[in-house]
Amino acid sequence: MGTVLYIQVSPRPESASTEVARGFLESYRKSHPGDQVRTLDLATAELMEFDAPAAEAKYAVMGGQEPQDEAGRTWRKVIAVINDLKAADKLVLASPMWNFGIPYRLKQYIDIITQPGLAFKVTPVGEYVGLVTGRPALLILARGGTYPAGTPAAAYDMQRPYLEEILKFIGFKDIKVITVEPTLNEGPQVARKKVEEATVLAKAMAKEF
Ligand SMILES: Cc1cc2nc3c(=O)[nH]c(=O)nc-3n(C[C@H](O)[C@H](O)[C@H](O)COP(=O)(O)O)c2cc1C
Repeated sequence: MGTVLYIQVSPRPESASTEVARGFLESYRKSHPGDQVRTLDLATAELMEFDAPAAEAKYAVMGGQEPQDEAGRTWRKVIAVINDLKAADKLVLASPMWNFGIPYRLKQYIDIITQPGLAFKVTPVGEYVGLVTGRPALLILARGGTYPAGTPAAAYDMQRPYLEEILKFIGFKDIKVITVEPTLNEGPQVARKKVEEATVLAKAMAKEF
């Protein structure tokens, strides 16, 4: 029996990324009846602030020290968030593109979990090694426009490359991506077609995930 952590980012009820993710999970539940799916809805979840004590704790750990006092208490909250991710065998992350990158709630989550000794470590020769290993990830990424490789628009896509690289940095190797685009720029009919095509693909991928 495995556990899937589904991270939902869009706050919109009519969200394209959420709709495709729901199609994926419906198919996943049918093909993996013994597995559990846990949802972390970042639009509504209580997320700790990554504030001065959190930064102090991070620097203490980077320097080989144990965070103390308020920093120590904050660090324990950080550990709980990363442990929640590590408790999952698989990750599904559905996110909109906002201003060519990711919504701030997802960035806040990434700032909480990307921690020394928990999500990555630094070897004595200065190499970074990810610690969240052995899990596949699926990214479902909705965008109002299109960002085809090899075109000038591709340079504006700071959503997909960022998410792929940060997941690799913390240890993910098997990262699959479904893009849902354009959800705005070519009108509602094209958007509907793209969401439906992505949902068909997602449902097929769920069987092998
Ligand atoms: C605050 C905000 C910023 C956005 N910025 C971009 C953008 O930079 N590029 C783009 O292609 N679409 C942008 N969009 C459109 C969304 O990416 C698009 O509506 C997408 O479908 C949102 O995902 P969702 O449907 O899962 O909510 C933006 C939408 C919002 C609300």
